[in-house]
Amino acid sequence: MFTIALVARKGGSGKTTIGVHLALAAFLRGLYTLVADADPQRSAIEALRARQSLGPERTGVASARLYDLQMSAVRQGTDVMVIDTPAGVAEECANAIVLADLCLLVVRPTYLDLAAAIESVAMIRRLKKPVLIVVNQAPPTRGGVEPPTVRRALRALAVLKQPVAPTIIRSRLVYQRALETGCSAEETGDLAATQEIAELWAYIHHIAFPRRVAG
Ligand SMILES: Nc1ncnc2c1ncn2[C@@H]1O[C@H](COP(=O)(O)OP(=O)(O)OP(=O)(O)O)[C@@H](O)[C@H]1O
Ligand SMILES: [Mg+2]
Repeated sequence: MFTIALVARKGGSGKTTIGVHLALAAFLRGLYTLVADADPQRSAIEALRARQSLGPERTGVASARLYDLQMSAVRQGTDVMVIDTPAGVAEECANAIVLADLCLLVVRPTYLDLAAAIESVAMIRRLKKPVLIVVNQAPPTRGGVEPPTVRRALRALAVLKQPVAPTIIRSRLVYQRALETGCSAEETGDLAATQEIAELWAYIHHIAFPRRVAG
């Protein structure tokens, strides 16, 4: 089983949106997927509750119970476990980070997100876990060129010397709308968002299951 923890000290960067989209991406490709919502707000659970068709398994969990949940998920033959965590609370995130095979640090290309990312990376490094930074809610490219905010963010992130996902997730209303019905943007027919999520999932799938071909 491969465990992904969504982390970011900064609230609202898109942990839940990206986490639920990746869980749905895994599910839609035939993987037995569990969303463990360790955020007391239970936003991931809330989003998936609206889903009309079959979807990933989901459960709310106190961060202290994550280990037990992970063990039972392994026993049940789960392929992918996605842990959503709350912003800000370092101790609660630490449990998720310790159990993760990969920490996804979701950041917007803003000064405050980048400042908070430095602390998140330091914490993940202290816990000796691999991290992948995902840039989310980025403004669109113009004529194929990244806007200055994104270029500045990528330069700042390079200083952290940690991998950054090659797919940048743009700010798109479809990501919000899709989750209102517990769906992935991939299920809405929006081509640009579908491509972003499919590319990001393929990249993570390759890290998770290096010998398997992505679905
Ligand atoms: N790529 C995107 N495009 C447009 N809106 C987005 C995108 N990603 C996230 N959002 C929106 O930004 C807001 C915050 O997203 P989300 O709840 O996923 O962040 P979070 O990091 O989980 O927040 P919290 O720290 O409160 O748990 C939501 O309204 C969500 O719909
Ligand atoms: Mg959230």
